[in-house]
This record gives sequence, structure tokens and C-alpha cells, in this order.
Amino acid sequence: MARRSQLIPWRTAGRVSEDQTSADDVVREIGWVFNNATGDSLDLEEFTGTGDQEIFAYLTAFDLLSPDIATQTLVEIGSGIGRMTAGFSKAFGHVVACDLDAAFLERCRQTVAKLGVVSRLRTVHVADGRTLAVADGQADITFSYITLQHCDHDDALSLVAEAVRVTKPGGHIALNFRTWTGIDVLLWPLGKLMRLAWRVPSIGPWLAKRRFASRLGWQANRLSPDQVARHLEALPHKLDHRVIYHSPDRALAQRSDAELRTFEGVNPSHWWLVAERV
Ligand SMILES: C[S@@+](CC[C@H](N)C(=O)[O-])C[C@H]1O[C@@H](n2cnc3c(N)ncnc32)[C@H](O)[C@@H]1O
Repeated sequence: MARRSQLIPWRTAGRVSEDQTSADDVVREIGWVFNNATGDSLDLEEFTGTGDQEIFAYLTAFDLLSPDIATQTLVEIGSGIGRMTAGFSKAFGHVVACDLDAAFLERCRQTVAKLGVVSRLRTVHVADGRTLAVADGQADITFSYITLQHCDHDDALSLVAEAVRVTKPGGHIALNFRTWTGIDVLLWPLGKLMRLAWRVPSIGPWLAKRRFASRLGWQANRLSPDQVARHLEALPHKLDHRVIYHSPDRALAQRSDAELRTFEGVNPSHWWLVAERV
């Protein structure tokens, strides 16, 4: 796994987070991978505030807010330092935060302790980047945002299978993907070059801490609805009531396996698969 260069910015940010004394410092110092804003005035509360807003915007748009939410379990794939996890822990009875980086998970626990309900939190280290140490059928909702695009193609598909596996029959998955856009003609080759540069001992560690460089190289795959649908066909557990949410600014071809709905909160290069586990 050490050879998968797309893991480098996360591991680098994880190490930087370990050196910080306060949670506010963590937000400021590793903003290059987590935040659309950077600067000395940022703090943890403001950072998780953005997560709180997005959680309810998405769960409402996806029709996933149940009256039973306080007894439900949510599994989050790619929790980072808990930007959304804190909000999830206030709403759901149990939250399982999964992430590649163990240092992020420690910070996630601190975030939830400060701004959420830590007694409802369990953290799971995704040590191999592709399997979740979570039993089958645990989750009412398995949620992943801005994470699958950062994984190796096969790891992302493995995590999709894991999301379906850990979701209980009648529960839902809500998974965010990134697909191809026109700008990828430039971004894709430059991203590959950047991931190679991260491995060069003289400049790699320096580059891996640079916001521009990370954003160029951190997206390691593009997955279309067709690719994910083909992968789902081979899985032992099936999905029903599939809905693909996309930006109103991006047209998608009608399909027989899923309803298409638009939501303004979806980035034009992203799409979401929301579906019920049979
Ligand atoms: C851009 S952050 C998003 C964090 C959070 N979802 C949010 O919206 O604030 C992506 C997260 O995915 C995690 N990640 C990257 N590759 C992963 C993998 N293969 N398995 C699990 N987590 C992964 C990173 O460590 C990072 O915390």
C-alpha cells in the first residue's frame, strides 16, 4: 500500500496534524487538504459548521431524514478530522467514522468530543484503503463525501462494495463520486505527474504540503455512473430505488437502472448514488 502515491497528501497532512497542539491549529495547518478556505482566522467550530450545513442539505435532498434518526446508525467513509462527523453524531444514535489515516481519526474523536456527542462515535481505521472493519448490515445509512475520488480506482470500487455490505436491508447508501469534465484534458495528466513528483525524495515531501500541488494530484480516479453500475451488478447484495443526483448544470443521459434527479448543491463534476439495500 505504501506504493500508492495518492495516499501521500493524506499521510502528510496526518503527520502535520499530530504536531499541532490545538484543534483550531489543526484546521489552520492542514487546511490545504480539507478546507476551501485557509487562513489564521479559521477555527474548528467554523469548519464543522460547514459540515453541519452540508449534512442536512444532502440528507434532506436525498430524502434520508427519518423520524427514527436518533436510533439509527450512520457509517461515514472518509471522515477526515470530523467536519461532518460532529454533526452526524448530534443527529444519529451511532456514528462509525472510517478513514485511511489514523491521526485524522484521533482528531476526529477530539472534534466530536468538543462539538458533537462522542459517546455515539466509533472510529475505524481503513488500514488497507479498501476494506471496512465493520460487520455486515450495521448501517441505516452509509455515507461518503469527497472521498471516493481520492482513492485508487479499484479501492474506490472496493469501498462501494463495502458500503453496500455494511448497510442493512432497507438501509441506504449515499455515495459521492467525481466523473470526467472538459478540464480533465489538462488536469488528468498533470495530476498523474504530480503523484509521481510526490515520490521524488528531494521535492516530494515539500510538494505534498502545498495546496496547489495537492489539489492537482489528489484526485486519483474518475468514475461514471455506468462504471459503478457495472460493478454493482457483480455484488452479492443488491440495491433498489436507485437515484442519481447531479448538478442542474450537467446533463446526464436517461438510464433504466436509476432515476435521475438534480440538486443545486451538487458540484457539476460530481454525482451521488443514493439507493436502498435490498
Ligand atoms: C477531502 S477529505 C473529506 C473528508 C470529509 N468527508 C469532509 O467532507 O470533510 C477526504 C478524506 O478521505 C480519506 N481517504 C482517502 N483515501 C481513503 C481510502 N482509500 N479509504 C478511506 N479513507 C480515505 C482521507 O484521509 C481524507 O480524510
